[in-house]
Amino acid sequence: MLVAHISDTHIMAPKEPNERSLERINFFQRCVEDINSLRTIPDVVIHTGDLTDNGLPQEYIVAKDILKSLNVPFFLTPGNRDGSMSMMNSCAEDLNISKNHNSMVYAVNEFSIRLISIDTSSARGPKGDLSKKKLQKLKNLLNDYRDQPTLLFMHHPPFSISFGDGSYFEYDQPNSLKEFNDLIQNYTQIIGLFCGHIHRTYNTTLGNIAANVMPSIALDLSQERISNKVDLPVYHLHKFYDGLRYETEIRHT
Ligand SMILES: [Fe+2]
Repeated sequence: MLVAHISDTHIMAPKEPNERSLERINFFQRCVEDINSLRTIPDVVIHTGDLTDNGLPQEYIVAKDILKSLNVPFFLTPGNRDGSMSMMNSCAEDLNISKNHNSMVYAVNEFSIRLISIDTSSARGPKGDLSKKKLQKLKNLLNDYRDQPTLLFMHHPPFSISFGDGSYFEYDQPNSLKEFNDLIQNYTQIIGLFCGHIHRTYNTTLGNIAANVMPSIALDLSQERISNKVDLPVYHLHKFYDGLRYETEIRHT
């Protein structure tokens, strides 16, 4: 199974389009066109949030227009800029999920590898949130199919993202992160965890679970270190083998 991972497109739709808004649209379109042109077309595309810059209906219209030009199914998880409810209101029908929930924690069961979106956005601010309700929903979903390889995708990385000596977490309540980490370690079917939010590449492991952070497609917001800077956006292609492991290719558009 081949999964294309994109993130942080921050699509804007001002009344008068400007250089930044047009560039972000252009970069998003480049990624979509590149995915469509691959010799082996991915089975699915996941977007790990901040699809839009302000969670506005008109921004979703523009972003969905681009997503719908994909030749493969796509799935979304909300970022802090999207907001759970705004994304749910604008995208639930496209994702075939119910609007009768207060977060976008949901599973996709139609592929050989199961996908679970973990909604980390918070009504309190830009930092991540993993409430008891969300963790319980995740637990229920993981209990449903314990033998099927599973991939988690979420906006805020649930681990320290500091390059320095200390730890730094993009979450309001670090205790909830410990609960999350303890929870996922009980489920050996989880083989990968994909995130966005920090706008730079970051790879780590949580126990036996590999974790990757995709840099932003919106390059004007890039936080990549100088050595990773690019002129055109990149995205990640994850190739899964036997549902046990995967390799990642950084794809230049
Ligand atoms: Fe972002």
